[in-house]
Amino acid sequence: TTLTVSPNQEKNISDKLIGIFFEDISYAADGGLYAELIQNRDFEYTSKDHRGWNASTAWHSNKPIEISSEHPLHPNNPHYALIWPDTLWNEGWDGIVVEKGKKYNFSMFVFAGGQKQDFLIQLVGQKGQVLAQSKLKTRASDWQQFSTVLKAKASDEKGRLVIIPQKVARVGIDMVSLFPQETFMGRKNGLRKDLAQVIADLHPKFVRFPGGCMSHGQGLENIYHWNHTVGPLQSRKPDFNIWNYHQTRGLGFFEYFQFCEDIGAEPLPVLAAGVPCQNSANNAEGIGGQQGGIPMADMPAYVEEICNLIEWANGDPATNEWAKMRADAGHPKPFNLKYLGLGNEDIISTVFEERYEMICKAVRERYPDIKICGTVGPFHSPSADYTEGWDFTKKHPDLQYMVDEHYYESTGWFMHNRDYYDSYDRTAAKVYLGEWAASTNVKRPNVETALAEALYLTDIERNGDVVEMTSYAPMLSKDGHSNWNPDMIYFSNTHIRTTPAYEIQRLFSVYGGDRYIKSQFSNLDSQLAHRIGASVVRDSKTGKRYLKLVNALPSTLKIHVEGINLPATVKCQQFTGAIDDQKAKTTEIETNEPTTLPPYSLRVIEL
Ligand code: AHR
Repeated sequence: TTLTVSPNQEKNISDKLIGIFFEDISYAADGGLYAELIQNRDFEYTSKDHRGWNASTAWHSNKPIEISSEHPLHPNNPHYALIWPDTLWNEGWDGIVVEKGKKYNFSMFVFAGGQKQDFLIQLVGQKGQVLAQSKLKTRASDWQQFSTVLKAKASDEKGRLVIIPQKVARVGIDMVSLFPQETFMGRKNGLRKDLAQVIADLHPKFVRFPGGCMSHGQGLENIYHWNHTVGPLQSRKPDFNIWNYHQTRGLGFFEYFQFCEDIGAEPLPVLAAGVPCQNSANNAEGIGGQQGGIPMADMPAYVEEICNLIEWANGDPATNEWAKMRADAGHPKPFNLKYLGLGNEDIISTVFEERYEMICKAVRERYPDIKICGTVGPFHSPSADYTEGWDFTKKHPDLQYMVDEHYYESTGWFMHNRDYYDSYDRTAAKVYLGEWAASTNVKRPNVETALAEALYLTDIERNGDVVEMTSYAPMLSKDGHSNWNPDMIYFSNTHIRTTPAYEIQRLFSVYGGDRYIKSQFSNLDSQLAHRIGASVVRDSKTGKRYLKLVNALPSTLKIHVEGINLPATVKCQQFTGAIDDQKAKTTEIETNEPTTLPPYSLRVIEL
């Protein structure tokens, strides 16, 4: 078959096509990317988080653990443990990985009514061997934080933290924390270095956070309020997670924004549009549990809360109290927030529309440069008969810059809907394909699903004038704690397994561009049309041009390329493997037949 490239026919496309979707699902945050090694450090677990959990879950002692809330460290963090003289130990997140020679920062708040109290802090291995220890001397008339550094003299993959009071005195302890000294970019209260690096290697152009369903939460009380997640850790407001566990909010908005900056990605916070997940709150406007939203009387305050985020991120600390909080947290310069997501798969009902409009109008009026991303409701694709979201969006072109579409479909769907965006209305809102994956027919990404995604991404690049952003979902899943399958990256405390889906996202991200160069196959029969793809993009900053060729056929494919000259020998990035291979990776190859593709492969050729 012949591919004709027309180097003189270029168009502008989005330079932010590939980003990431970060949701605290499957232990992506606490116990995952967030490097804290102590589970339930704040003694705030409850049965709302998970059936059977309570304030002492993950903690152990030889006697029942006494929990008090008489003299809280902070009203948002009411519970703490009372210990004397018993030893208390924490199991971590499926154990604590301790590495010989590494240092660990330990800290905790102590309240002992002014008495002196010493503790022995130990990291202990599975056989009871002491891996590291340090003395912590305290004297606190009221809550006060004390810290020490533990240096490991031996390793264990499943260690635990042990706190041994050295005197018989009754003390309160709270916010017991242990961080590896090595975090991503050395940030305090930082991220797990290896996992953050794997994400950074995707070179995502933006990061969407804190979710999906987690953003709008399970009912009104569980809506994610960004302002509950900033400030000193002990003052942040923990909450249950819609995915059936706990959110400490230690990984909060400051940390998300900092991570974006560290990896050169635009932040895309997504906040509730005044309605919780599927508008399911039970209140006056939602009797029967179907259509609830924040009561209209409370909406002005909620709108203000959203505007405060923009001030917090971009404002001047000299004149704005929210911006000052950002500066006090260590970031005096603005974060330069450009995008704001509102809503996630909400049912487009009157309750939603009223609240969404109210927020959009206020934000647009006060911050005309902020690009608002709305939602077109629950899963939206031609296979789902749901158009209300787009109807509403088109009726109100002034409200948003783009809208969030979600679809999880089969490989076959992606192969047969290659023209999905070709006839999209170019005058309507732009598209953020915020959650997508060729995933409905498999448990884990494999070469077939990855190639279906690669084919579709060549089509997305062709439509990069209407599609502004895309993000594969979900991104992270911790072994043994999965809420969803498939995912892009699987991890345990010690290992990270990227998938073929990751390889494809990385290749399209690293070898992306902001100009699309027209290319067209000729004489394709329908079998080929579904299973081969090509796209040429140029990065106007570097001047580099990339040709991507996809062969999802079980046989070798020879493509005759016209319109451009390829050198006799070229280096290419090649992804290939057996159709059900879940571990296939990309390799760099040198070939004098760059356009002869092996079965089931993607090739990226720098022109
Ligand atoms: O990605 C998992 C979930 O799928 C998201 O939370 C939600 O938006 C979608 O239904």
